[in-house]
Amino acid sequence: MKILVTGGLGFIGSNFIIHVIKNFKDFEIINLDAETHGSNHDNLKDIDDSDKYTFVKGNITNKKLVEDLISQSDCVVNFAAESHVDRSIADPNPFLVSNIRGVFTILEVLKNQKKRFIQISTDEIFGTIKEGSATELTRFNPSSPYAATKAAAELLINSYFITYGCDVVITRCTNNYGPHQFFEKLIPKTISLSRQNKQIPIYGNGKSIRDWIFVEDHCEAIMSVLENGNKGEAYNISASNEIDNLEIVKKILGILNKSEELIKFGQSRPGEDTRYSLDSTKIRRELKWTPKTDFDEGLRKTIQWYETNIEWSKDISDKVFSHTPWSD
Ligand SMILES: NC(=O)c1ccc[n+]([C@@H]2O[C@H](COP(=O)([O-])OP(=O)(O)OC[C@H]3O[C@@H](n4cnc5c(N)ncnc54)[C@H](O)[C@@H]3O)[C@@H](O)[C@H]2O)c1
Repeated sequence: MKILVTGGLGFIGSNFIIHVIKNFKDFEIINLDAETHGSNHDNLKDIDDSDKYTFVKGNITNKKLVEDLISQSDCVVNFAAESHVDRSIADPNPFLVSNIRGVFTILEVLKNQKKRFIQISTDEIFGTIKEGSATELTRFNPSSPYAATKAAAELLINSYFITYGCDVVITRCTNNYGPHQFFEKLIPKTISLSRQNKQIPIYGNGKSIRDWIFVEDHCEAIMSVLENGNKGEAYNISASNEIDNLEIVKKILGILNKSEELIKFGQSRPGEDTRYSLDSTKIRRELKWTPKTDFDEGLRKTIQWYETNIEWSKDISDKVFSHTPWSD
């Protein structure tokens, strides 16, 4: 079985490739990545010379290249996307190109080559969930340009299932944390700034709630969807672990033995969703998947990874750590 992974140099994609190479001996991977934000070849240095792994530099909007690589593969798992809400507020255009046109390009190829396609989507398509948790049937209500492009991609994918019978399955996951996540995201940003005794910017009052999952648990869920998910369906993936941003920052400061005086409250992010929450009953019941990692244990593992891979953070621009990256 050969999987074409797109966006495999990034955070979740690289963890997924390592998970597959280490645990599934009959699988091979081709990784297509444009080497944009969040990508890092060091993420895959441990398996780089495996004969089951091939890297191709390129963009998912390049139809000829995508056509050629899909013809050499049995299925496609698409992680490639512009992924940071703050940057989508500053400039949505690259998000439309990668997250919508890129998916459209893959779908156009899959119209003729009928192979399984897994789209890695997000809980952000549902927007703020005031009460309860979003199920697979909850109405899309994206708030940021990033979330809107992910929702648009889902609609396009669904239309290729209905109109052309393409073998597509969508996974929607909550906020991931773990090794390899780029410093623009809350957890690695907080770890890096606390280590340097620098101020930690918190948007608004820090009370926005996110639903967190350890990246390894997400990778296991994707494999069970790839192998056993039903064509044309979507699966929510969540560890039911809701925590507000301020509490996470305080936990990290506590583990690193740093003062809470480093916390600096700032402006709210425009369009900020105040709570995400996903109901993942369907994947747990139908595919027998369950998350394994407790949040405190996963957070400790993550901090330990960043502490022992300090060289990974070299050459990061100050803008990444800014209080208002969407307006700088
Ligand atoms: N990080 C999360 O918490 C989270 C949660 C749910 C869903 N997701 C989704 O998972 C996927 C991966 O997220 P991540 O956090 O690993 O992102 P990331 O930014 O760390 O990695 C994205 C990767 O995609 C590549 N890429 C971007 N545009 C490309 C293009 N047009 N062609 C080829 N490669 C391209 C980048 O170079 C990078 O290596 C995204 O689709 C995201 O929407 C992320």
